[in-house]
Amino acid sequence: MALLIDNASEILTMKTGLHVLRNASLFVENGTIKHIGSVKYTKKRHTTINARGCVVCPGFVDSHTHLVYGGSREDEFALRVTGVKYEKIAQSGGGIASTVKMTREASETELYDTGMQRLNRIAQHGTTTVEIKSGYGLNTREEIKMLRVIHKLERNSHLDVVPTFLVHTIPQHMNRNNYIDLVTKEMLPEVTRQKLAVFCDIFCDKIAFTRKESKTVLLKAKELGLALKIHADQFANIGAAHLAAELKCISAEHLECTTKGAIKRMKKAGVIPTLLPGATFFLQMKKKPNIRAYQETKTHVALASDYNPGSCMIYSMPKIVSLACISYGMHVEDALLAATKYGAKALNLYDRLGSIEEGKQADIVVFNVDHYKKIPYHFGEDVVKYTIKKGRVIYGEDS
Ligand code: NIG
Ligand code: FE
Repeated sequence: MALLIDNASEILTMKTGLHVLRNASLFVENGTIKHIGSVKYTKKRHTTINARGCVVCPGFVDSHTHLVYGGSREDEFALRVTGVKYEKIAQSGGGIASTVKMTREASETELYDTGMQRLNRIAQHGTTTVEIKSGYGLNTREEIKMLRVIHKLERNSHLDVVPTFLVHTIPQHMNRNNYIDLVTKEMLPEVTRQKLAVFCDIFCDKIAFTRKESKTVLLKAKELGLALKIHADQFANIGAAHLAAELKCISAEHLECTTKGAIKRMKKAGVIPTLLPGATFFLQMKKKPNIRAYQETKTHVALASDYNPGSCMIYSMPKIVSLACISYGMHVEDALLAATKYGAKALNLYDRLGSIEEGKQADIVVFNVDHYKKIPYHFGEDVVKYTIKKGRVIYGEDS
């Protein structure tokens, strides 16, 4: 069935910059954007969304999440607000390790059911494409279990789901060299043999893997045909962003401690810096990404939620856009571009997603506000009226 989104106050195309079309309409057929502007040929059978007073924008592309996990970590949260640091909790056996335990204890069905509930919730906040990482298994069987769950979610959810194999941390009581061996000799070959991941990611930081270890793993992943991502310089600058540039990773994420020099190098190498203001805020980190350096070097960044049970329980992309503006000082226009167009680029999907252009997939959000600046401004309110995936309303009055 065709769909007419009629007379929107603003359509943000995100084609070149934000690019606002005022009082414009959008015609969708067979899941694809057919026409943008004043729509004349409406003789074809279609449903209509009256978008008067609304902003229309591409669906959010959340390019970094850990949405599949078992259990929860509210005790750690309560400890952190008394002043205990995330890194400290991780080093004393909590943090990622506690989610590993709870994820291993969960059955595939449990992980699938909670994962599907979370996907339905993020769709209500305008996300139409989401990347999901493994990384709470830490042995071959459990990592494969997580990736199988992610694949089943991909098959059955309305959303596009992109699976990433994440080398997250060294399992307790295991020698780090032995773990790197296990990852490169057993896990990666098995993950790629079963075609369970598009990307390989590694947590390169002072509390996880060194730059050398990260390079070994990422080179093996590349050899096996995976595209590369990296958790870089979140808690300390150990040169992870430089490694991202050297290996031409598709994206480098977090980047709280990354220098202007590394930002320039990433730009030259075509790496998409991906900022995660939800985690910076949730952990109350003093160090924040050098936004001024991105602006001065005209480097486009992506924004993602980093939704996970430890460092960020925020899955709403409008909230992430607000936080990028409030806590990082990003311009509203840059933040909205970062959550759509550059999110799609960070997943290698910009050829079909991330902007409103004729011929692209009709993944669209209709907001209950009449000006785009009101999207981050209404921080305390849910401003999504409809979420549309491949031309179908998946959230909103008609769904
Ligand atoms: O992206 N930085 C590493 N990993 C996650 C945290 C995962 C967790 O605490 O469970 C992150 O913030
Ligand atoms: Fe993460």
